[in-house]
Amino acid sequence: MGKIKNKQLYIESYGCAMNFADSEVVASIMAENGYTTTNEESSADIVFINTCSIRDNAEQKIRNRLTQLRGNKKRNNDLIVGILGCMAERLKDKLMEEEKLVDIVVGPDAYRDLPHLVAEVDDGAKAINVLLSLEETYAEITPTRLNSNGVTAFISIMRGCDNMCSFCVVPFTRGRERSRDPHTIVKEAQELFDAGYKEVTLLGQNVDSYLWYGGGPKKEFKKLTEEEQANSIDFAKLLEMVAQVSPKLRVRFSTSHPKDITDDVLYAMARHQNICNYIHLPAQSGNSRILEKMNRTYDREWYMGKVERIREIIPDCGISCDIIAGFCTETEEEHKDTLSLMEWSQFDFSYMYYYSERPGTLAARKFADDVPLDVKKRRLTEIIELQNEVSRSKNKEREGTVVTVLVEAESKRSDQDWMGKCDQHIVTIFPKEHYQKGQYVDVLIERTTTTSLIGKAIGLNPFFEDVTEPEKALA
Ligand code: SAH
Ligand code: SF4
Ligand code: F3S
Repeated sequence: MGKIKNKQLYIESYGCAMNFADSEVVASIMAENGYTTTNEESSADIVFINTCSIRDNAEQKIRNRLTQLRGNKKRNNDLIVGILGCMAERLKDKLMEEEKLVDIVVGPDAYRDLPHLVAEVDDGAKAINVLLSLEETYAEITPTRLNSNGVTAFISIMRGCDNMCSFCVVPFTRGRERSRDPHTIVKEAQELFDAGYKEVTLLGQNVDSYLWYGGGPKKEFKKLTEEEQANSIDFAKLLEMVAQVSPKLRVRFSTSHPKDITDDVLYAMARHQNICNYIHLPAQSGNSRILEKMNRTYDREWYMGKVERIREIIPDCGISCDIIAGFCTETEEEHKDTLSLMEWSQFDFSYMYYYSERPGTLAARKFADDVPLDVKKRRLTEIIELQNEVSRSKNKEREGTVVTVLVEAESKRSDQDWMGKCDQHIVTIFPKEHYQKGQYVDVLIERTTTTSLIGKAIGLNPFFEDVTEPEKALA
């Protein structure tokens, strides 16, 4: 392994936040073994692509990227190319057969093996490890923050998914669900706060089923003994533990599953000002027959009940959604049910897709992908247009109100403006004046678009910022 030490590693991530968080774990594992991460692809000795399989076009994008990389490899024969993440797990050694330039294939649970696999490649072999694990949570590894703004960070609280939604490849690429030791989660949040970070987002495919009891991760609360139940930490408790790291550390989480989100979580959010009033609550469809076919285990009424409960307990809660258009056998009427659910729910924003059949999933095995592509696309357009209308009008209602924004970075459009997000996770832009990155600023909203709020700072937020401190008193 000696000759590869101190070499430069370039990591590129695709897909969901969990993948981006995993890349930071990978960077940490590699750093321990003498590899430095670089933002310069051209100077890298190793290129890792952390991949996503969620839809066919996600994989297509990565294939195109690999074609580009072929050129680099021709110029630098020693360049090592590794495929990490969900596509590596899904395609396994097939990926090496199909993409000759790939030297390493590593699934999401095998990252501790990376230094060893790189050494094998260095000795002239190809290397693969796609073993999934029932225990691995990388619990004690401190991620190396990549491309960080120094203000916001992700913390993985669990891995895998046991839900088996019929359209979804994730249970196959990420394995069984397992929760991470809560003490390591709180420790990571504390270390981030001590390093100047102001916001953490707790990540899991289904955070509401997080569960840790005295002895370790276990899935089902009802299967625990009474004593274990008393000692267990569920998501509501975990959320409060992280919120208590500091009232000045904002806490977010994603993703919530409508079947699992509890009143306890909503009350924890209402109790703590630093837990953001924002929930990502994917519905996928607004029609009960389709939801059943998707194996989401709730129906339209249940979903609406959850939205009502959220609005009751947290009146100003932002809610966003994921929608899939044109799932197997979806009729025009059923599509209209999705539109009416969206209209009724008034989501602040949504992530919207048309159905893409994934090999090996329940839907691929059992149902015909029978909604023609042009119909899927047309339904998706209707869904997007409706959401844009709702977002525009919801944002418009915020004109004249004051929102608290955590300053994350310079606005992409102007170096005179700051960009941050309000509690409800909506991008907010305002002139910098004397404000600084990492501060909580109260902003009076003057103008809005479909995707953002634009306004003017009226001062530091008194709850989050100690405005009586002398150097801040001027603000
Ligand atoms: N765990 C999250 C979702 C993770 S995947 C949840 O349960 O909500 C992110 C989103 O991708 C999903 O919410 C879904 O809307 C979309 N998606 C997943 N599989 C898909 C497929 N086969 N075709 C189209 N969209 C899909
Ligand atoms: Fe996929 Fe469903 Fe698990 Fe989300 S909850 S990751 S959609 S199987
Ligand atoms: Fe994609 Fe894997 Fe995330 S399939 S969405 S990167 S869990």
